[in-house]
Amino acid sequence: MPEPFYITTPIYYVNARPHLGHAYTTIVADVATRFNSMTRAETFFLTGTDEHGDKVVRAAKKENLSPRVYVDKVSGLFRDLWPELNINNNYFIRTTDPSHIAVVEQILQHIYDAGDIYFSEYEGMYCFGCERFYTERELIDGKCPDHETEPEIIQESNYFFRMSNYQDWLINYLKENPEFIRPERYKNEVLAFLREPLEDLCISRPKSRLKWGISLPFDNEYVTYVWFDALLNYISALGYPEGELFKKFWPQAQHIVAKDILKPHGIYWPIMLKAAGIDLYKHLNVHGYWNVEQSKMSKSLGNVVEPLELTKIYGLDPFRFFLMRDMTFGLDSNFSEAALVQRINADLANDLGNLFSRILAMAHKYFDGIVPGVDPKVEAQLQLGLETDAFAAITAFEKNMETFAFHRALMAVWEFIGQMNKYIDVTAPWEVAKKKSNSKQLQALIYNLLEGLRIISGLIYPVMPDTAKLMQKHLGLDPQAPFYLLDQLRTWKTIPPGTKLLKSITLFPRIEVERSDSALQRQSNSAPAAPEIKPQVTLEEFAKLDLRVATVISAEAIPRAKKLLKLEIDLGEKRTIVAGIAADYDPERLIGKQIIIVANLKPAKIMGILSNGMLLAAAEGDRVTLVTVDGKVKPGTPIS
Ligand code: ME8
Ligand code: MG
Repeated sequence: MPEPFYITTPIYYVNARPHLGHAYTTIVADVATRFNSMTRAETFFLTGTDEHGDKVVRAAKKENLSPRVYVDKVSGLFRDLWPELNINNNYFIRTTDPSHIAVVEQILQHIYDAGDIYFSEYEGMYCFGCERFYTERELIDGKCPDHETEPEIIQESNYFFRMSNYQDWLINYLKENPEFIRPERYKNEVLAFLREPLEDLCISRPKSRLKWGISLPFDNEYVTYVWFDALLNYISALGYPEGELFKKFWPQAQHIVAKDILKPHGIYWPIMLKAAGIDLYKHLNVHGYWNVEQSKMSKSLGNVVEPLELTKIYGLDPFRFFLMRDMTFGLDSNFSEAALVQRINADLANDLGNLFSRILAMAHKYFDGIVPGVDPKVEAQLQLGLETDAFAAITAFEKNMETFAFHRALMAVWEFIGQMNKYIDVTAPWEVAKKKSNSKQLQALIYNLLEGLRIISGLIYPVMPDTAKLMQKHLGLDPQAPFYLLDQLRTWKTIPPGTKLLKSITLFPRIEVERSDSALQRQSNSAPAAPEIKPQVTLEEFAKLDLRVATVISAEAIPRAKKLLKLEIDLGEKRTIVAGIAADYDPERLIGKQIIIVANLKPAKIMGILSNGMLLAAAEGDRVTLVTVDGKVKPGTPIS
């Protein structure tokens, strides 16, 4: 049996509604959990909400609600969103839960008794508007960035956690456990930070300033600093110290956070655990930001993307796929609906969707939708090779999923999808089907293709569970069975011959661009964006176009066609073309101009005139501007 797997997301502040950033981290945790269930590991997936502290008090005040009523409301928004995104967390923790509060008190008392918490006077710059201390660096021209007022110097007695005592220990630990924080860049960031002396952490707030928190068990005049409270959710949720879940899962703990909260997770948390005599977590997995138009998505910037809106327009599985495929875990990524649409159309509608419907359609056409049997002798002669490709995909998939390189894991699956599509093109079952004597070969081809689809459905399961199940169903298999187990995917040929297939379907409809444009406008209030970039083409595809420079010899209006001009052009040879540029160009102005034309476009009759080629122009709304060359060239010169 593989080791148990325990994964956590940050517990999100309830001062704002859930957005795409929260959805991303939580979907990552869901994908990682589902992947681990493919290895038959026991899994536990935790998420929840962080509900104490003055951020929350201020947000509640704004809505004229008591903190208690307010946190129930917003925590509910998070809890209710997750099932809509097919997120299967085992537990949802709230820092206002009595069982959590009991653990915080217990740990505080333990560390206090051990001598790592001390009482001391503190002097600092305090903004009464924000109800918090500021450091010099956070101020802008010496003023609070929110209130634009100068903070006051105040003295306050508080409790401090002796982090400085653990600095050398932590540096050594990070060096001896290079995988503790990953990807590596974030481990290096923490180490760089630890090159400066570590200050002790102020872990209390006097109740005169803040009441909404957990009281210090050793001084009722104070509440706990929100981070000291929040981090402990990861163990309180498992029933620390005696709970069975804690014993089973804590040694395998992995956290997922974005880089904004690297410091509390990479420095405070390991030191807290060490001071409390608890084993450290196993991995901290750190990802970058989803940006919108190059800046981090945030409530204050007003560029928040609502996950549910997107799933309603594009579907849940495509949305999950996009997030996992487009972000390199650890780096920032730019969110745009155009990128989402392009990804869906290229990878899902085209690559996977076409493959699936093509194979099912053939199985229906040639075998009435019944999975054919295979003659091993014929199969051996054919040397099909799909099994080897599938095996390589599974191996690469597994390796990358384990290290949170989700985009690479998906690339490996899509490489296999590409191999399947190519396999069909090369073996051309429709040609094989023409001869009756080939029927055994055709059986072997179709059977192997159906097997390939079975493997793909298993591999996409963590990211697109609904689609995986739908594929299984149409392959005549049981979508409720654990069809995604890796050992079963590694066994080739398990679909029983005679299985009845369901009809071929479109797994992912192509997204029309107009539809996404309108959605984009609803999301952002900036100026209209440039039209979307079309799906990618290969160099070979591009090279099929024959673009040439041509000189206009003559130009004339076409009666009854207001927009069109008829041009005689020289491109080494003489040609006639028809172009829709009459609104912007007088015929006389064109003579002698050098233009660019697509020389190998199939000729077409326009207003009774045969147009042999097409000129290129920039189209800005209704206005067109001809594309030309920057200096005289010989007519017929190719563009490359
Ligand atoms: O920090 N891109 O809560 P929080 C990617 N309560 N991920 C993003 C993101 C973005 N633009 N915006 C937010 C807190 N996130 C504390 C955590 S844990 C003991 C306490 C995600 O509501 C990402 O996971 O500010 C980030 O770390 C987290 O939301 C911050 O959530
Ligand atoms: Mg935050």
